[in-house]
Amino acid sequence: MNWLYLSWFGGRGLVSLPEVILEAVDVEFAFPDGARALKGVSLQIYQSKKTAIIGPNGAGKTTLFQHFNGILMPDGGKIRFDGRDIGYQHASLLNLRKNVGLVFQDPDTQLFAGNVLQEISFGPLNLGLSKEEARSQAEQVMAVLEIEGLKDKPTHFLSYGMKKRVALAAVLAMRPRVLICDEPTAWLDSRQNQRIIDFFQKINDQGVTVVFSTHDVDLAYTWADYIYVMKEGAVIASGVPESIFQNEALLKEAELNKPWLVEMGQALKRNGCLPGEIPLPRTKEELLGNLMDYGGMVNVQ
Ligand SMILES: Nc1ncnc2c1ncn2[C@@H]1O[C@H](COP(=O)(O)OP(=O)(O)OP(=O)(O)O)[C@@H](O)[C@H]1O
Ligand SMILES: [Mg+2]
Repeated sequence: MNWLYLSWFGGRGLVSLPEVILEAVDVEFAFPDGARALKGVSLQIYQSKKTAIIGPNGAGKTTLFQHFNGILMPDGGKIRFDGRDIGYQHASLLNLRKNVGLVFQDPDTQLFAGNVLQEISFGPLNLGLSKEEARSQAEQVMAVLEIEGLKDKPTHFLSYGMKKRVALAAVLAMRPRVLICDEPTAWLDSRQNQRIIDFFQKINDQGVTVVFSTHDVDLAYTWADYIYVMKEGAVIASGVPESIFQNEALLKEAELNKPWLVEMGQALKRNGCLPGEIPLPRTKEELLGNLMDYGGMVNVQ
């Protein structure tokens, strides 16, 4: 039996395996200065799932993402999309980028057009949509991300958080099948942070595959279906959030903090406030529900 049958979704019964939509196979990559950023990276991204890539600074997350939409070409190994090796000719790359959208970690690297509307319409126009269609798609994402008011503003006058939202809108306007976001919530205020996550959930519910890197362990724990941990250019672990964040040795090796829900759930179990055999809560709501359900068990010594 494939091990994924046991671990996917925490082993809650047999489920059919999701399809692999994007894959890195033994990818090797060194920058021109000789920095070996990826050392034989192999991982699979499952269709319509939410995958988090976590790990310390310099682990290779951004470099891997740049391979996923063909900005960087591996020195060895390959990237596969939808069952085929990706090509690096203009037409193949255009097709890949229509399907696999990458939102950069630093929006200043991504944004280049004069104003916000031009920036967001560029992708759809580049894919061959008419001016009217491109504008309509741009306006739809601007409304969802609450940036309609910025449409005529030069992008270089925006705050960093606003630039992040414009960069995301510019990719979403192309309606990709896979959305890759490098640190999507860094620099956002807490309201925008929540809006972005709610929005990602909405598009994920509609079948869009979401891949993101983050240093926010609480976000990765609560929100990802599956997690890859990278360090020094290699994948050092993978699994469902419950298994990754209860692996003390791994957390130490990857220099990761424990999500607060894991800390709290483990402490409550240790103290007899929650039964040891129930799964750890994944959300604040689950934790409160557990406390309501098992409140009668409180037996602190
Ligand atoms: N343009 C570049 N030229 C040379 N080395 C680079 C370049 N970009 C990245 N690197 C190196 O490649 C390695 C991986 O960097 P990368 O940006 O992919 O890490 P990361 O996991 O995204 O880190 P962070 O969490 O800080 O975003 C690092 O050692 C980095 O110094
Ligand atoms: Mg990075």
